Parts: sequence; structure tokens; C-alpha cells
Amino acid sequence: MRPLGTRAGLAAGVLASLVGCAGPVEEPPALAELEEVTLSGEQLYLNCESCHALTTGASHRVGPNLGGIADQPAASREGYAYSPALQQSGLTWNEGTLAAFIMESGRLVPGTWMVYHNHLTPEESRRLAQYVLRAGQGADAGAAWVDPQ
Ligand code: HEC
Repeated sequence: MRPLGTRAGLAAGVLASLVGCAGPVEEPPALAELEEVTLSGEQLYLNCESCHALTTGASHRVGPNLGGIADQPAASREGYAYSPALQQSGLTWNEGTLAAFIMESGRLVPGTWMVYHNHLTPEESRRLAQYVLRAGQGADAGAAWVDPQ
């Protein structure tokens, strides 16, 4: 038999655990609680903060400042030396392109200098993209993202 690929193996594992869950065995409460934790866009941004400022006008870090990036063409921040790949990508930053870049930068823009690997789900990537696009627009937009606690 052909060995299962990673994805197929994962799927098989998920299936197996789903079948397991269907039984009468109760999950320990601690684990059930863990699964409900949802990280906010602001919390998810900690993945980006070391390389990107999000305040308009703040200086570039390893990566360019992301303040006010919504609807802007890629590689258009002044004073930052971008890779030729990003300069030639023809992308505009919106929720779809940004979430895709977060998920797998090198797949959306082969040759980009942003080498960043993460374990975010597609849903988390989308939430993070929304946060970056809105929080970067200024204090008012950012305020809308304060977590209701
Ligand atoms: C290890 C440093 C590093 C991390 C972590 C990182 N980036 Fe980047 N990012 C870069 C670099 C370097 C570039 C410039 C890429 C190029 O020129 O090809 C970049 C470029 C970008 C751009 C394009 C900006 C523009 O002006 O077109 C976006 C958007 C972006 N990053 C978002 C993110 C987000 C969101 C995260 C967090 C999930 C993140 N990055 C994490 C280094 C990083």
C-alpha cells in the first residue's frame, strides 16, 4: 500500500478522533474549555509585531510599517526596500489577499522576503487580516477592536 501523505494522514486522524468522540466517553472539562478559546485579532498580531509596526508613521522594522495598508498596492510604503517579487506582485491589500499572505506568504508571492511560518487556521488568518486592515487605519478604527470583556 502507498504510504499516506501528511494531509491524508491528518484527515484519517481527525476522522478517527471524530469516531472516538461519538462514543459515550466524556471529555475532561479542562480540554473542552481550551477548545473554546478564541484569540482576538489583536492577540494574533503578536505573531507579526516583532517585524511590523502598525501605527501610521512609525518606523519600519525588519518588515515595513503596516499602518493604513488597507486597499493600498503591495510594496508601496516609502523608505522600505522590498523584494522584487513583492514589487512585481500586482497585489492590493484587502482581507482576501492579506489572509492568503498570512497563511502562506511564499505561495501567494513566490520569492517574497517575508519568511514566516505559522499554525494559524484560515479563520484566524482572516480575523488577523481584518484587525491589521482596521487597526492600521487610526485610533477610531482600532478602538472598535477592543475586546468586549
Ligand atoms: C520575521 C519577520 C516577519 C514577520 C514575523 C512577519 N513579517 Fe510581514 N514582512 C516581513 C518582510 C521582510 C516583508 C517584506 C517582504 C518583501 O519585500 O518581499 C514583509 C511584508 C509584509 C507585507 C507587505 C507589506 C507591503 O507594504 O506591501 C504584509 C502585508 C505583511 N508583511 C504582513 C504580515 C503579517 C500580518 C504578519 C503576522 C502574521 C507578518 N507580516 C509577519 C517580515 C515579517
